[in-house]
Amino acid sequence: MKDQFQRKIDYLRISVTDRCNLRCKYCMPVEGVQWMPHESILSFEEILRLMRISTQLGFRRFRITGGEPLVRKGILDFLRESAKIPGVDDLMITTNGLLLPEMAFDLKAAGVQRVNISLDTMDPERFLDITRGGDVATVVQGVFRSLEAGLNPVKINVVVVRGFNTDELPSFLTLAKQYPLHVRFIELMPIGISSEHRADFVPIQEMKEILGLEEYVPTHDILGGGPAEYIQPKGFKGSIGFISAMSRHFCDTCNRVRLTADGKLRPCLHSKHEVSLRDALRNGTADEDIMELFAQAVWHKPAEHHMNDEALQGRRVMSQIGG
Ligand code: GTP
Ligand code: 5AD
Ligand code: SF4
Repeated sequence: MKDQFQRKIDYLRISVTDRCNLRCKYCMPVEGVQWMPHESILSFEEILRLMRISTQLGFRRFRITGGEPLVRKGILDFLRESAKIPGVDDLMITTNGLLLPEMAFDLKAAGVQRVNISLDTMDPERFLDITRGGDVATVVQGVFRSLEAGLNPVKINVVVVRGFNTDELPSFLTLAKQYPLHVRFIELMPIGISSEHRADFVPIQEMKEILGLEEYVPTHDILGGGPAEYIQPKGFKGSIGFISAMSRHFCDTCNRVRLTADGKLRPCLHSKHEVSLRDALRNGTADEDIMELFAQAVWHKPAEHHMNDEALQGRRVMSQIGG
């Protein structure tokens, strides 16, 4: 399916819950967020129906996100059913990793191909601090369990925050050298609570300088449907990726729309405009008419984001959008 700027849209990011077992400082305010009421969250049956419809429109890649997707009851059965849908060629998860030690093998068996795991620091005290209570050892265990389970590739998301983890970038480089892990350094986006922390933003160029990786040859061998640009220095088992959401946005090649946990299609991470599918799902609307709503949302996909504009900041927080 093409949008009005002729971009091919085939990647659907599905948030299955706004709940999370962490409260990362750049994602949520200290008091947490008001969870969406249970009845406003799409049931798994409703999401499966939307997935089937979207494959008919050409969607092929499906990323399950949250909040934290693995905390939702019944997630494994849902994934098993998702993987069976013809046209679901790439089924993947973005997770904070806390539940991976016990779930990695089950995810693989359910048909998930790959995982992206958020890990902003490997220091236990810092991790405890930025996640407001998380145990880094559990996440690290989850990372290695995922490799053992054969999830491939396993990617690590590191949101770089000035004065917090900039000194750890070389340790993450070592991680990617020693293990087949794809470590992606991400620019902090001013979304929700993060919009109050603009001074903590570190541009990719500066990250590359810290890492001594100013000159390199990009590789296109890492499986992914997202915006990361990868390099694989000689002798590395894994790779290093950069997600320059702010300094050099990748909107011209954007291939995705998002489905929020409460059933709204969001054409872009920063969109004001959302198309609600929930009511249509619940009032007997036919598949063809739901396709029409999808088409509307894709059509309304903006040419680019405006996250640099102050006026647009501070709306829905990241856990409500699905990362
Ligand atoms: P793959 O490349 O397929 O592995 O997926 P991905 O990198 O898109 O997924 P992931 O959920 O791990 O997202 C990594 C980072 O990219 C997160 O910080 C996201 O918020 C950011 N990101 C993902 N999609 C978009 C987008 O459409 N626009 C912007 N600006 N950032 C995005
Ligand atoms: N800027 C950049 N990335 C963010 N994430 C959450 N909030 C932000 C933000 N403000 C990341 C998480 C996770 C991914 C889905 O999005 O760390 O890895
Ligand atoms: Fe949860 Fe992810 Fe937000 Fe952290 S960034 S609070 S893990 S949704």
